[in-house]
Amino acid sequence: MQKPAPRQLTVIDHPLVQHKLTLMRRRDTSSAQFRQLLREISHLLGYEVTRDLPLEPVQIETPLMPMQAMQLSGKKLCFVSIMRAGDGLLQGLLDLVPSARVGHVGLYRDHESLQAVKYYFKMPQALSERLCLVVDPMLATGNSAVAALDVLKEAGAKDIRFLCLVAAPEGVAALTSAHPDVPIFTAALDERLNEKGYILPGLGDAGDRLFGTK
Ligand code: URA
Repeated sequence: MQKPAPRQLTVIDHPLVQHKLTLMRRRDTSSAQFRQLLREISHLLGYEVTRDLPLEPVQIETPLMPMQAMQLSGKKLCFVSIMRAGDGLLQGLLDLVPSARVGHVGLYRDHESLQAVKYYFKMPQALSERLCLVVDPMLATGNSAVAALDVLKEAGAKDIRFLCLVAAPEGVAALTSAHPDVPIFTAALDERLNEKGYILPGLGDAGDRLFGTK
């Protein structure tokens, strides 16, 4: 029997995720609090995104007796941050998997066309043998995410997941149409974009809130 296709969009509705996201959305949340909350929430999101990673048995010895225990098997992980706001999610993910490799994609959004323009790309070796988790807190128009996945696939990546904090329906539609093989994980699916490409109700500019640049 054929397996059903996995759902492409997963909204992570865990109560702790939702509570922390609400704190992050509030306009009076400081940059220090925002940064800390993003790190905490990325632990919870990372837990969900990695929940189906394969395990293998390994023989070990506890202080009391030998046992067969489970350890991660399969592909090595590569976290790919879409700069600069992606770096906020990256830290928490590295807390979970300190041995993961890290790649960076630098894309800026042309404020006239809202199109993504690449200015930086640095990846670890053997991308095709890794599970790449691409992170960016805001999936807005989807232009940056689509462009990041385009360049990542050009560099050899084959097994990719996309993780964000807040997604707009427009961004989800763009990403699923351009990259139907990439599962998307988000903490929230918001209402829509405004005319400047910001997510409503959203949380504002994630990079500015993270780094206190506004
Ligand atoms: N990028 C952000 O930081 N916020 C948005 O609402 C949209 C894109």
